Amino acid sequence: MSKKIKGYSKLTKEAKIEWLIENYFEQPEKALQLLKSYWHGDADLQKMHDEFIENTLTNFYLPYGVAPNFLINDKMYCLPLAIEESSVVAAAAKAANFWVNRGGFKSNVISTTKIGHVHFSWEGNEFEKFETFINNIKPDLIEGTNHITANMRIRGGGILNIQLNNKTAEEPGYYQLEVKFDTRDSMGANFINSILEEFAKILKYKLAESDLAEKEVQIVMCILSNYTPECLVRCEVSCPVSELNDDKDISPEDFASKFLRAIRIAEIEPYRAVTHNKGIMNGIDSVVLATGNDFRAVEASAHAYAARNGKYSSLTHAEVKNGIFKFWIEIPLSLGTVGGITTLHPMVKFSHELLGKPSAPELMQITAAAGLAQNFSAILSLVTTGIQKGHMKMHLLNILNQLEATEEEKSLIIDYFKDKVPSHHATVSIFCQIRGIKDLSEINLK
Ligand code: MEV
Repeated sequence: MSKKIKGYSKLTKEAKIEWLIENYFEQPEKALQLLKSYWHGDADLQKMHDEFIENTLTNFYLPYGVAPNFLINDKMYCLPLAIEESSVVAAAAKAANFWVNRGGFKSNVISTTKIGHVHFSWEGNEFEKFETFINNIKPDLIEGTNHITANMRIRGGGILNIQLNNKTAEEPGYYQLEVKFDTRDSMGANFINSILEEFAKILKYKLAESDLAEKEVQIVMCILSNYTPECLVRCEVSCPVSELNDDKDISPEDFASKFLRAIRIAEIEPYRAVTHNKGIMNGIDSVVLATGNDFRAVEASAHAYAARNGKYSSLTHAEVKNGIFKFWIEIPLSLGTVGGITTLHPMVKFSHELLGKPSAPELMQITAAAGLAQNFSAILSLVTTGIQKGHMKMHLLNILNQLEATEEEKSLIIDYFKDKVPSHHATVSIFCQIRGIKDLSEINLK
């Protein structure tokens, strides 16, 4: 068989798998069994998953966990988190437990506006006349897309603003129609892109009918922007410094001071800011995935926002004023609670029910709290015990599973590390000791 294939997507699922395992696997039968073992027992459900994307062969599991005790705007939530990293759910739950007794998280949505562009070229030299022409065709643009916006308008959303941007100083002949939208509870990507494509058609034929000397535009592309600085949420926690720390090894004042310094370092030092924000995204992405939202869009926007002042910086900030410690996040989060896979994927529907079927703004508030919580736990560990204590404790089971330790061995080793920070080396060493072997070469790991 050849590794080059034409028309793969047209094959049946069985034929796709056969071609794949024969071409790429030393033990095709074993590969086949593995793929099949992840098929869903319910054929209808499996079919739905098959139809989410092209060339689906099987399913790819991620753990789905929950973090209870999230008090957000005086309402109790149990957060759904889909994530593979061992310590994320534990860190979220720890921060939730800490803040539930200190007033909880206060979240508010600053704005929910989304943006899209028709990017086009126009080679004319009567800019003012062109600008007037664009202003004059705005009612045609609105009217020409009424069929697309009808339902959204009933829900209170729609097109908010249309403006012409002259970008010729940066790129000769380059202009944009910049359009702002309110997409209510949907993320709105298809809605926005459909409108932009219709706008491009209207722009083209209206210009052809105009009295401008240059009657042609070249439409380069019509696309929403995943950078959503106007779809913004803020979430904060606060308490008196004296209530900040239950740790006996460090005073609350010293803890606050180290915490603030850690945040300051992330504000001024991009190397630290990237890791700091990555930790925030551990919490954000887990909720975004569990609720069926687009984590790539959220990631792209968050990092662009973190660099909005020309230097990559922290998404969280902290201060102590008049004895009150305050810690907050401001982050763009373009999320949806209707549309996409929110009403299809059973576990996504489960997450929405668990959260009390939130609106998109409420989900923004919840998700921002997950990010802030994650960052609080990370900084707390970093400036006190160090990150490895908690992280390796959670990761220990992964190492033991890699070693194919028995349940009895696991329990002995977990007990051994109760008062020690586990490391990979130390785990292997105690494992070998318990097994009565010199090193891992004596056993056959899969
Ligand atoms: C690990 O996934 C995330 C952290 O590195 C975040 C941080 O350093 O703030 C612990």
